[in-house]
Amino acid sequence: MKLKIVKDSNPIMRKKSLPVTLPLSEEDRKILNDMMDYLKKSQDEEYCQKHNVRPGIGMAAIQIGILKRMFVVYYEREDGPVQYQLVNPKIIEYSIRKCALKDGEGCLSVDGEHPGYAHRYYKIRMEAYDALTDEEIIITARGFDAIVLQHEYDHLDGKFFYDRIDTNKPNQVLMNEELI
Ligand code: NI
Repeated sequence: MKLKIVKDSNPIMRKKSLPVTLPLSEEDRKILNDMMDYLKKSQDEEYCQKHNVRPGIGMAAIQIGILKRMFVVYYEREDGPVQYQLVNPKIIEYSIRKCALKDGEGCLSVDGEHPGYAHRYYKIRMEAYDALTDEEIIITARGFDAIVLQHEYDHLDGKFFYDRIDTNKPNQVLMNEELI
């Protein structure tokens, strides 16, 4: 299985992805598993060098050219891996408080440099069907975890992290905003 990552120069990346029919088809389940497999492998330095890929912690279906509202997340945290295969996610709550990554965000589909703070909500609640556990779940996420979910969610609506950078004042920190 070799996934080809669609880059931001491709206009399909600006399209709004379509809702996924549940129960999940075997085909959709395979897509999610393939994407997660890609992320896990991409976090191995040797694998990256050998296959000329970049490390990633999240991937939306549109990034492999599939216009469906689903994305996967995989990364290690001190207390264990954070892993989801989310289908038809919705942000149901968000904080007034904001946050941004101090070193800026990255994206497998973006090769260009886009310095500046991508402003995000500090805390969100996201509702989705999780194909990993086969359950409807509600995730409460803060800080980095919340940023990752918002980044992937944006792909479903055709948005990139750099759309959230103020090009006139890329390094301005907002009121109520924490840099992470
Ligand atoms: Ni991305």
